[in-house]
Amino acid sequence: MDFRHQLSTAGALSSLAADALLVVIHGDAVDPSLDPAIASAIKDAVAHGDFQFKAGRTLYLHRPAGLKAARLVVAAAGSASVKAFKTAVAHGLAPLKGLGAKHVAVALGNAGEVTEQHAEALATAATDAVYVYRHTKPSAPTDSAMSKFSLVCSKTEARAVQKGLARGQAIAAGVTLAREFANRPGNHCTPSYLADQAKRLGKDHGLKVEVLDRKAVEKLGMGSFLAVAQGSNEPLKFIVARYDGAGKAQAPVVLVGKGITFDTGGISIKPSAEMDEMKFDMGGAASVLGTLRAVAELKPKINLVCIIPSCENMPSGTAIKPGDVVTSLSGQTIEILNTDAEGRLILCDALTYAERFKPAVVVDVATLTGACVIALGHHNSGMFTADDALAEQLLAASRDSLDPCWRMPLDEEYDEALKSNFADMGNVGPRAGGSITAAMFLRRFTGKYRWAHLDIAGTAWKSGANKGATGRPVPLLTHFVLSQAG
Ligand code: BES
Ligand code: MN
Ligand code: ZN
Repeated sequence: MDFRHQLSTAGALSSLAADALLVVIHGDAVDPSLDPAIASAIKDAVAHGDFQFKAGRTLYLHRPAGLKAARLVVAAAGSASVKAFKTAVAHGLAPLKGLGAKHVAVALGNAGEVTEQHAEALATAATDAVYVYRHTKPSAPTDSAMSKFSLVCSKTEARAVQKGLARGQAIAAGVTLAREFANRPGNHCTPSYLADQAKRLGKDHGLKVEVLDRKAVEKLGMGSFLAVAQGSNEPLKFIVARYDGAGKAQAPVVLVGKGITFDTGGISIKPSAEMDEMKFDMGGAASVLGTLRAVAELKPKINLVCIIPSCENMPSGTAIKPGDVVTSLSGQTIEILNTDAEGRLILCDALTYAERFKPAVVVDVATLTGACVIALGHHNSGMFTADDALAEQLLAASRDSLDPCWRMPLDEEYDEALKSNFADMGNVGPRAGGSITAAMFLRRFTGKYRWAHLDIAGTAWKSGANKGATGRPVPLLTHFVLSQAG
């Protein structure tokens, strides 16, 4: 995909060369600065009941009168916000999907500044719109010919637009990578596959990638991670990938991603309905690799370490049983009361392992609890941290990237729920507040650094007719990592 800026003004859009021109307008009337040919087309459509100034509405015209571009799409945004612009771009690209247009020029139809944020929003929205999963469905229609997008701006806006497009394109490539990995089924996307892909990413971008196998993990003493992996014939992988963009002395940002490539629940087996969606249980790992890709492309002056514990959660004759007690890498013992609470069991050892990097901050990302979906639905990721400053930084990254998250509580009182008579802790609490007790469990392994946890169970993928991975929270994480570079 190719993204660039294109110089013009709103008043001169009719002479713009492109296969399609997408004009995003906000407010409830045609802006007087808009090109007269486009303005009259819109007014005519409104008069005939074919268009309304309402967010989500679009107008498509082939060979529009008085325009150089072969196609015109007008998309209503409602408000002037970047968020509304992004949604309108997504709506506006929909009618172009089955068509022959290769180069789409996008313009603001109202007077006002075209910003870096608009540019980033265009790059991410356009990439999302043309992505089609084909790895195990090569017959899927190549829906779209669109391969080049330009954002119309003035000379003074061009620098900012170019910067926003570059950032957006890097984030979008990371999102696509995360979507692709997560969409691949469990028999394709195994821990070994993730490890191979991490190595390939390393080769392509000059990163250091290390993959630990069972033997190495045993030697280290990751008894909790090993316990989850022991029920599967698929070999576990512990992936460590680093991007070194700053001096050795600079403490790294560490991202930890849950890499369960299939979660049956284990002996505490899940119901059959929708169990296929548990192939997405490596969404945290996918988003960490996607973020690594984006960061490697943008090359900020920062050190980043990505840690991915990856295995399957299977029931078998060798699987862990409810009541089993294991010793984690931290030395703390865990009574496994429910084998389906496996995410925290692999993450806790990764979080202890993270200590060796003397991190500036650690953020773990996991499709951790169904309870988080009940709490927040599919719009906000759950964010947990006891550190107010860190929470603010993550919320800012979330706002800037239009990748929403919501802070959840972590009061000491929730820790009660993890008490066990047979180990230092149980791996589950009662149903109530399940996403919080999961975070409290992780917290017990994070005493030595600043830490936050993102529960993406509701946001990593969509169910239903449009079932598929979203690539979230790659945009949030990338913005966060960039913000830590100062
Ligand atoms: N991967 C699931 C969480 C999940 C469930 C994400 C449904 C998205 C949709 C996780 O491993 C899990 O099974 N969690 C249990 C925890 C419980 C046993 C305390 C859950 O949420 O039911
Ligand atoms: Mn589970
Ligand atoms: Zn899981």
